[in-house]
Amino acid sequence: MAGMKILAGNSNRPLTEAVAAYLGAPLTHCQVRRFADMEIFVEIQENVRGQDTFIVQSTSFPANDHLMELLIMTDALRRASARRITAVVPYFGYARQDRKAGPRTPISAKLVANLITRAGADRVLTVDLHAGQIQGFFDIPTDNLFAAPVMVRDIKEKLDLSNVMVVSPDVGGVVRARAIAKRIDAPLAIVDKRRERAGESEVMNIIGEVAGKSCILVDDIVDSGGTLCNAAEALLNEGAKDVYAYITHGVLSGGAVARISSSKLKELVITDTIAPTEAIRLARNIRVITIAGLIGEAIARTAKEESVSSLFD
Ligand code: R5P
Repeated sequence: MAGMKILAGNSNRPLTEAVAAYLGAPLTHCQVRRFADMEIFVEIQENVRGQDTFIVQSTSFPANDHLMELLIMTDALRRASARRITAVVPYFGYARQDRKAGPRTPISAKLVANLITRAGADRVLTVDLHAGQIQGFFDIPTDNLFAAPVMVRDIKEKLDLSNVMVVSPDVGGVVRARAIAKRIDAPLAIVDKRRERAGESEVMNIIGEVAGKSCILVDDIVDSGGTLCNAAEALLNEGAKDVYAYITHGVLSGGAVARISSSKLKELVITDTIAPTEAIRLARNIRVITIAGLIGEAIARTAKEESVSSLFD
């Protein structure tokens, strides 16, 4: 792919290498390192003048460091006269702060979108935004890829589709879960969380008949694992045969891996939008599938000015 440069931040080098391998393009020589006081310094060690450049960087833990790396890399490319800069952000952190959740609180997802744009990005390529509307926070073209095709391929390989039920762990995730259910021709159930009175604990109502079914929970983010483990527990209490989960972004902070390992969840499948830690790789019931091909194909199509949305037809 002549005229194209792929650059890796420090957030997810294995994914960036896999994307570059898909494209048959070597990674651009670039140093992203720290000064003694932890300031970030970037040096692009190849000519990028007039090139179509793609920085692959998830704004995952430590989110602020990785975001700052992305901004500084973008600035370096802009000052080096790159023709076009695409911020490829497989996991867009801060996405959950997409509205004023209370008085005098920020909309940090919009602030981060502003920062990326003002740093000089011409386009953004991301995967399973927490809410599709966040696309509109960017005033530059933004492609929101869906991990669904990669998940569906895996589900078809691993599970007996004759007895599955796709489940959204909350009402907000119904559209995402329905997309998977449609592709595997499975019914859909919803976990409806309710707090009847302030101070009382949340009650989980299952909308749908899950007894005897192999349930597949579908979500965009697993962070503390609370939503996932509680939903799995509620489904099993309703007589589900077993519970699997397919979740795009494995944030898995704090004791999440231990919590999931000791839960009754049969298997959690996440993608590599966030680089898996050693604990994740060793966990008994967590498996990582790659979306390098999906991102690589989207980059190739962007470079050739071809349709990206048709990847999901
Ligand atoms: C919430 O709206 C998201 O889709 C996830 O369900 C949530 O971020 C998961 O967080 P946790 O694993 O901490 O429950």
